[in-house]
Amino acid sequence: MNDKKTIFSAIQPSGTITLGNYLGALKNWVNLQDDYNCIFSVADLHAITVRQDPKTLRKNILQAYALLIACGIDLQKSIFFIQSHVPAHSELAWLLNCYTQFGELSRMTQFKAKSLIHKNDINAGLFTYPCLMAADILLYQSDLVPVGADQKQHLELSRDIALRFNNTYSPTFKIPDPYIAKTGAKIMSLQDPSKKMSKSDANVNAFIGILDDPDVIMKKFKRAVTDSQADVRFAQGKDGVNNLMSIYSCVTGLSYEQIEQQFAGKGYGDFKTCVAQAVIDMLIPIQDEFKHLMKDKAYLEESYRNHAQTAMKISYKTLAKVKRKIGFIS
Ligand code: TYM
Repeated sequence: MNDKKTIFSAIQPSGTITLGNYLGALKNWVNLQDDYNCIFSVADLHAITVRQDPKTLRKNILQAYALLIACGIDLQKSIFFIQSHVPAHSELAWLLNCYTQFGELSRMTQFKAKSLIHKNDINAGLFTYPCLMAADILLYQSDLVPVGADQKQHLELSRDIALRFNNTYSPTFKIPDPYIAKTGAKIMSLQDPSKKMSKSDANVNAFIGILDDPDVIMKKFKRAVTDSQADVRFAQGKDGVNNLMSIYSCVTGLSYEQIEQQFAGKGYGDFKTCVAQAVIDMLIPIQDEFKHLMKDKAYLEESYRNHAQTAMKISYKTLAKVKRKIGFIS
C-alpha cells in the first residue's frame, strides 16, 4: 500500500441505477480514483432487505458491475468487487450488531421510511442494515466515504459504532468521514421535487435510469414538474426548477448564475430540452460501453473474482484484529 488515503463506497443492485446515483455518488467515485486508494462494491447483501426475485437479482448484480465500469471505474486503479463474495462483510456485520443499540437503529430515517413502504416485511435485516454498512466501511480502514446526502445518517452511525468499539477495547477502526459533494448530493424526483429521485419509485417518470433510451429521457424531462412562473432562477419555493438547475450544473459544470443568464427570457420548454440533451450526451458513451461490456461476460467474471480475492485479503486483516480484541481464540 502507498500513503494515499482510502475510500470505500457501494451501491445496491436493486433495479435501475439512476441519474441521482450517478450525480450524487458514482461520478465522484470515478473522479477520486487517481488521488485515493479506492475500494468499491456492488452491495448485493444490502439488496435482500427487500424481497428480490432471484433471476432479476442475478441480472441486476451483473448489470450493476458492468454499468459502474462503464461509468468509469478503472479496474487497474480501484478494487471493485461484489459484496457477497467477501464473507468478512457478513461476519463483521454480526459482530457490530452486538455493539449497536436498538435505539440508534430505531432513529434511522431510511428504516422508518422503508418500513412504511414494506409494511408486510419489516425484517430484521432492514433494521440492522446500517451495521452491515458500517462493516463494509470499517473493514477497509476507510478514511472517506463518497455518498449522496441520504446516506449521511448511516455514516454518522458507522462512526459512532467504530468509536464505541475503539473505546471499549483499543484503537481498531479508522473513523471514516463522509464525502458529500456540494452539487448533486440530493437529486430530486422529476414528478415530486420534494422527494429524492429513487430507483424504487413506482412512477417511472420520477427518475432517469442511466440506461434509459434518449427519447425516453427527453420525454421524462419534458414532463418534469416545475411551476407556473416560467422563470429559470434558483430560489426558494422553486423546487422543480432548482432540481433541474442542479442536474444541469452537475452535467455541464456551469454555475447557477451562468445557467440563469443562459436561459434569461426563455421559457421552461427550452430549458428542459437543454437539460435533457446534456444528460443524453453524457449518458450515450456510458450506455455504449455498457453494451460492449455485457457482451464479454468472461471478462466481467474474471474481474469480479480477482478483485474479490484482493478485497478478502485486506478485509480479513481487520476482521482478525476485531475477533482478537473481542476475546475469540484462533
Ligand atoms: P444506494 O444504492 O441507495 O445509492 C447509491 C449511492 O447513490 C446515492 N444516491 C443519491 N445521490 C443523490 N441524489 C439521489 N437522488 C440519490 N439516490 C441515491 C446514495 O447516497 C449512495 O451514495 N446503503 C447504500 C449502499 C452502501 C454503502 C455502503 C454506501 C452499502 N454499503 C458503504 C457507502 C458505504 C445504499 O443503499 O445506496
